[in-house]
Amino acid sequence: MMRAVPSSLSDPLDFSGVRLAYDTVAQDYAEHLPDTRAEVPLDLAMIDSFAETVAARDDPRVLDAGCGAGRMSRYLAERGCVVCGIDLSPRMVAMARRDHPDLPFTVGSLTCLPYPDGQFAGVMLWYSIIHTPPAGLPRIFAETARVLRLGGHLLVGFQAGAGTRDVSAAYRRFGHEIQLERHLYTPDHVAERIKATGLREVCRTVRGAQGKERDDQAVLLAKAS
Ligand SMILES: C[S@@+](CC[C@H](N)C(=O)[O-])C[C@H]1O[C@@H](n2cnc3c(N)ncnc32)[C@H](O)[C@@H]1O
Repeated sequence: MMRAVPSSLSDPLDFSGVRLAYDTVAQDYAEHLPDTRAEVPLDLAMIDSFAETVAARDDPRVLDAGCGAGRMSRYLAERGCVVCGIDLSPRMVAMARRDHPDLPFTVGSLTCLPYPDGQFAGVMLWYSIIHTPPAGLPRIFAETARVLRLGGHLLVGFQAGAGTRDVSAAYRRFGHEIQLERHLYTPDHVAERIKATGLREVCRTVRGAQGKERDDQAVLLAKAS
């Protein structure tokens, strides 16, 4: 049985439990969520707008930060972005490399991005901040702001609300005994953390839960200017 320490009880920058959990479920995650079937048209509208804006830049490099098995990297690449992905979990990255061999993927943490300042026209954090406790967010947003170039855009998707949810049970039906929690954030909280890095909010959507979702869903678009 795999056990991870709930992140709320540990160092906010210690993601060893999250890494262990995603390493355990990586193959099933890649199989059951290979594309954007979980996103609703409103989510895709925000992603499409982000992708279109970035793809129009002279150097449209985008970082899919917390890329998982690479499904959103593929989506952005199909829209003209030059994408690379990074993820904490070596097994998730292995799935991304297997399923998207034409795209580059790296193992690494959002808290210490292995890229120079101003490298990207876009950074996407698609449901990848959700395992970070509040005290860890400033570091992640500082890193994403650092690697964004002037005029670049940041897109963040997350469950909106407060507190935490245990998501271990969702993986039990696949036979995985992991321990994993996610944090809910209000859009204002995330917007404040982003603003503190010097980025300017461009737009946000907040929608009600649909289908099997348990929470409202938020997407924030911000610009480095
Ligand atoms: C819910 S999955 C989303 C994956 C992908 N963005 C998608 O939409 O399919 C969360 C991902 O974020 C990654 N992650 C969580 N915290 C991270 C961190 N500090 N650094 C890098 N990746 C992280 C996990 O390993 C996992 O692959």
